[in-house]
Amino acid sequence: MRKVGGYDDKHNTQTLNLTTKLGSGKFCKVYKSKDLVSKLVTPDTEVAIKVYKTDTGNVDYYLNEIKMLALLDDHRSTSYHIIDNTKSKTKGKKRGQQSPQTTNHNNHIVSWLSTWVYIELASIDNVQIPLIYPCIAYKLYDQTLKDLLEKQIKDEEYGFHINMVKDIMRDVLTGLSYIHSKKVIHLDLKPDNILCKIVDGKQSYYICDFGSAQLEGDDNRESGTLYYLSPESVLETKLTTSTDIWSLMVMFFRLVFGVYLFDVDKEDGLYYSAVSIGDSKVSETANDESLIEASDHQTSIDELSSSVSSTNASSTETASESDEDLYRLIHYHEKILGEYTQDMTSGSPWYDAASRVPHTSDINIGLEAFIDINFDSLQEDYKKRLVSFMMAGLCYQPSQRLLATKLLTMINKL
Ligand SMILES: Nc1ncnc2c1ncn2[C@@H]1O[C@H](COP(=O)(O)OP(=O)(O)OP(=O)(O)O)[C@@H](O)[C@H]1O
Ligand SMILES: [Mg+2]
Repeated sequence: MRKVGGYDDKHNTQTLNLTTKLGSGKFCKVYKSKDLVSKLVTPDTEVAIKVYKTDTGNVDYYLNEIKMLALLDDHRSTSYHIIDNTKSKTKGKKRGQQSPQTTNHNNHIVSWLSTWVYIELASIDNVQIPLIYPCIAYKLYDQTLKDLLEKQIKDEEYGFHINMVKDIMRDVLTGLSYIHSKKVIHLDLKPDNILCKIVDGKQSYYICDFGSAQLEGDDNRESGTLYYLSPESVLETKLTTSTDIWSLMVMFFRLVFGVYLFDVDKEDGLYYSAVSIGDSKVSETANDESLIEASDHQTSIDELSSSVSSTNASSTETASESDEDLYRLIHYHEKILGEYTQDMTSGSPWYDAASRVPHTSDINIGLEAFIDINFDSLQEDYKKRLVSFMMAGLCYQPSQRLLATKLLTMINKL
């Protein structure tokens, strides 16, 4: 029996011709298909269609995503199309205006083509019920940076060559500078949300997935991915465009070294197990293999924060695993970068300094020493350049992090 409002691949496949799945997330699935409405591409051009799951709550992510896309595209019209397939099995009916030519093509931001809502009838227990699918059509890209990185780690057990990392950072920072100039915070920067395409013989990189983005000054959206969360995201204090800079630097570390900087998921990860308090064993080498696994288990802050709010956050004894994840992340931050300051934590709605995971004595090893322990073969000079670049974004105080435009000028000196 088909569920009302459910997500039915088979049904979708037959009617929308969504044959090849490109990826999926918590709120949507992305397929290779044809754009049913946009005049920006020819009718037989293959595009990527992001189909939102119609469960309650997901519509908010869809609406947020098209709002952000329109904003980033100089307030391009978001008048959407309704393709009502309930009236005819073969002929869709269009409404709304055609969107004007997109302007985003060279900004290292994903190009979106159109947005539409697809409605069709499903027969459930012999009752005809309309199913509604909010969709966004995007230009089709070749793969994600996550795909590229996983291949690299599998083959080489290490991150990319620095020249490639510089190319990636140049594109991502160009995209980010533009996004930030519009006061938009992406809030989920990570390799999964960077699309790759060969343009003029050169691999180019594009930021995608604006489902979690928000405008600076708006109420916080609960978003992000555990490893990449900035202190202010964990603490649920004010988010700014600098929040993205933190995540960007965590990503940079991963691109260079092939492993997570704050390896929350693993007991004997790069550093040590933050759960077994007081047991400060330091692993000698990076365990690359299990990182590939870890990337498949990235935990969304949505799951984390829902349990934060539903449990007693002031007691670590009763804390759920999700609370522990957040505490462990804080602990990892502190072990490498130093203790959170009181002015950071005092504005936090759930952080309680007295009851959080207690500190161990070896707190604040420093990023340089941390790299020394784990990657001792690096040239001194090169290591110093890497560290000073990363520290420009890994400051606890968001206002001290360099802006994307400034970081862009530093990339060539790496
Ligand atoms: N334009 C595109 N071309 C090729 N593949 C794409 C494109 N857009 C998305 N994908 C693939 O689909 C995956 C999911 O897309 P996206 O990141 O936009 O949504 P999501 O992470 O599922 O969203 P949510 O945050 O709502 O869970 C991407 O990681 C990528 O693999
Ligand atoms: Mg995504």
